[in-house]
Amino acid sequence: MESSAPGKVILCGEHSVVYGYPAMAAPVMGVRCRAWVEAAASGSGLSLVAVDLGERLALRAAPPDQPLAALARLVLAHLGCEEPDAVLTVHSDLPIAGGLGSGAAVSVAAARALAGFLGVTLSPAALSALAYEVEKLHHGTPSGIDNTVIAWERPVYFVKGQPPEVLAIPAPLRLLIADSGIGAVTREAVAAVRQRREAHPAYYEARFAQIGALVSAARAAWEQQDLPTLGQLLDANQALLAEIGVSTPRLEALITAARQAGALGAKLTGSGMGGNIIALVTAEGMPAVADALRAAGAVHVWQTITE
Ligand code: MEV
Repeated sequence: MESSAPGKVILCGEHSVVYGYPAMAAPVMGVRCRAWVEAAASGSGLSLVAVDLGERLALRAAPPDQPLAALARLVLAHLGCEEPDAVLTVHSDLPIAGGLGSGAAVSVAAARALAGFLGVTLSPAALSALAYEVEKLHHGTPSGIDNTVIAWERPVYFVKGQPPEVLAIPAPLRLLIADSGIGAVTREAVAAVRQRREAHPAYYEARFAQIGALVSAARAAWEQQDLPTLGQLLDANQALLAEIGVSTPRLEALITAARQAGALGAKLTGSGMGGNIIALVTAEGMPAVADALRAAGAVHVWQTITE
C-alpha cells in the first residue's frame, strides 16, 4: 500500500495567519513525500522507518511525542483498529526545515498509507485533522494551513479555525522556489514573533492587519489573472515580513536577484529565518530568473505550477 502527499508554498499571509488573518497556500505537486506499508511477521507489531533520518523504531517503544508514532497512534484510534503487524516507511523529497511543509506531508502520506493498508480511504478533512494534531507537536501553535493545503492538494484561502475555501482559480501560477540552504525551524520563528508581538502589540497588529488586507487583494488579483498586481502584492507582503523580523540578508539576496531578473514578485515562504523563497514568473521569464537564483547562491531551485 503506497501513498504520497505534496509539499506546499504559502503564497501570502504566513505568521499573521497564526493570529486569525487570512492566508493563501498552494500544493507543490511535483515535490512529494511517499509512504508505504508492508505486512510483517505475526506478532511483530508496527515498525516505523524514516528513511531520510535513518530511523527505525517500534511503535510500542516510541515516545508519545515522536511525530510518526504519534500519527500512527492517532490513525489507529481514529479507525478503531488494533496495531497491525506491518512496517510503515516514509521517504521525502522535501527539504526538512525548509518552510515547504515537510512535516505535514509526512503525516498526510503516512496516514493515507496506514489507513489504506487497513482498508480505509480517509477524506481530506480527516487527513488534515489527524496531521494537525502532529503539527502541534512540531510547531507548538500552528495555524493549520500546512496540513490543510497538503491534505486537500488544492490551492486554499485559509482562516484559522474555519473550514478551508478551496480556490477555483482560472489558471495556474508559475512559481520558482529557491532554497537558501539555511534551515528554518517554524516553531522557533513563530515563538520569536509571538514574543516580539507581546512586547510591541500595536506595531505587530498593524502589520498583521495590513498583511490580511493584502491577502484578500491577492486573491482577487489571482482570480482575475492580474499577475502584475499579484506580483506587487507578494513584494508588499515581503516588506511586511521583513518588518516583523523574519527575513534575513540571505533571503533578501535571493529575492532581489529574482526581481532584478524579471520576476513579477518575490517573497520568503513559510516561517522565514531561512528556508525558501518563491518568485512569481511568466513562462518566458522563468529560465532567466532560475539562472539568477542559482547565481545568487540558491542550493536548489524548483519550477512549479500551482494546479
Ligand atoms: C508555516 O508554514 C507558516 C506559519 O504561518 C506558521 C503557521 O501558519 O502555523 C509561519
